[in-house]
Amino acid sequence: MSNLIVLGAQWGDEGKGKIVDLFSERFHAVARYQGGHNAGHTVFIGETKFVLRLIPSGVLRPGVIAVIGNGVVVDPGALLEEIAGLEAHGIDVRAQLKVSNRAHVIFPFHRTIEKISEGREAEGRVAIGTTSRGIGPCYEDKIARRGIRIADLIDIDFEGLYRALAHDKKLVAEAFHIEEAGDFDQILADYKRFAAEIKPMVCDTSHLLNRMIRERKNILFEGAQGTMLDIDFGTYPFVTSSSAAAGGACTGTGVAPTKIDGIVGVSKAYITRVGSGPFPSEDLTEVGDRIRIAGNEFGAVTGRPRRCGWFDVPLLRYTAEVNGFDSLIITKLDVLDELETIPVCVAYKVDGKFVTQMPSSTRGMEAIEPVYENLPGWKTSTRGTTQLSALPTRAKDYLQFLEEKTGVEIGSVSNGPERNETMIVPGSKLAKFLP
Ligand code: IMP
Repeated sequence: MSNLIVLGAQWGDEGKGKIVDLFSERFHAVARYQGGHNAGHTVFIGETKFVLRLIPSGVLRPGVIAVIGNGVVVDPGALLEEIAGLEAHGIDVRAQLKVSNRAHVIFPFHRTIEKISEGREAEGRVAIGTTSRGIGPCYEDKIARRGIRIADLIDIDFEGLYRALAHDKKLVAEAFHIEEAGDFDQILADYKRFAAEIKPMVCDTSHLLNRMIRERKNILFEGAQGTMLDIDFGTYPFVTSSSAAAGGACTGTGVAPTKIDGIVGVSKAYITRVGSGPFPSEDLTEVGDRIRIAGNEFGAVTGRPRRCGWFDVPLLRYTAEVNGFDSLIITKLDVLDELETIPVCVAYKVDGKFVTQMPSSTRGMEAIEPVYENLPGWKTSTRGTTQLSALPTRAKDYLQFLEEKTGVEIGSVSNGPERNETMIVPGSKLAKFLP
């Protein structure tokens, strides 16, 4: 039996979708624990490209149960659209997908609120550069204890709860002279329709997962976004509104920490970020642009160009500590294939002095002067290599350098988007976690 958490060690987009898809073959269920359709997990199977936003990538394996946990926020319209897209490829989503009755529901007015909030830069509010999916405002309602959960959506009391929430939003719209408040009756009618479609997939997913664990089945917990976007440990306020770090896997699914066997971080061989916020090792030169092209670094959800930079050791050490990583998976090694030299940020300086802890404020993060070590590139294609021992020596040296500096074993390396372009280190902790 093995219950494993796989999550992003950087700012998201580390390639978790491909890894979770690959591993899901060995697990009975894959559970998403936070976020919503702001995530974009890209998986290539042969010529077909799948972009999963809300549904865990485990759904691509027949028979694997895909769980949307209680920590997730669900836009039912977006969910049904994603289901239809997968069904068009012959995937039996409705048989495999289970949606938590405790997950919160996103409404169109959450998106409106977000748009207005993000547009208030002139009034002194810094835009976060969100994905505009209504994620943050939905979590706001959850924490304010006025949100509507999936259990409410499918309940006969839904209309009453909805009207109370809609009344609240109307008052806010009036107070702030917001024209774009939406047609609340139309939303009600749409959501009643969505509820009827979703209902057969709704259950107490915490109970389901715990029952499976008692039956000695294997559960894979899939993080969305990445640790540096976690509401507590990320670069606040330039973060998402949920607990992307490993602890979120327990609160976001209702499975106890005592049931978790391993925690694995996914990190690119370099680093990227979408949206605003501090980024110490960002490369703003044409080399950064080359990486963006080579790595196709454009957002899977919004299409926005990702900001690119160099592997950041202090950041990785920080996320390893917060999450307790047992093992690291390094993705997109092949993107560095053509480079002459590869800088790695090995330390942070602030005011000329080395700092050993991650600054907690934006000002502190922006004051970081990254200290780089330049490693020689291997200038050979690593695509098609199926064994780590067959990698060019300098690529192996690069990986060993990352392992030594971060203090976490590298259990796997991915060198291409396909399922089979992933090498697992024999004898690693990761290999032992895989059932
Ligand atoms: P939100 O999650 O839409 O509220 O956006 C908050 C921040 O998280 C923004 O900087 C987004 O670009 C970022 N973000 C949200 N989802 C993802 C993701 O899946 N990958 C990378 N960044 C993300």
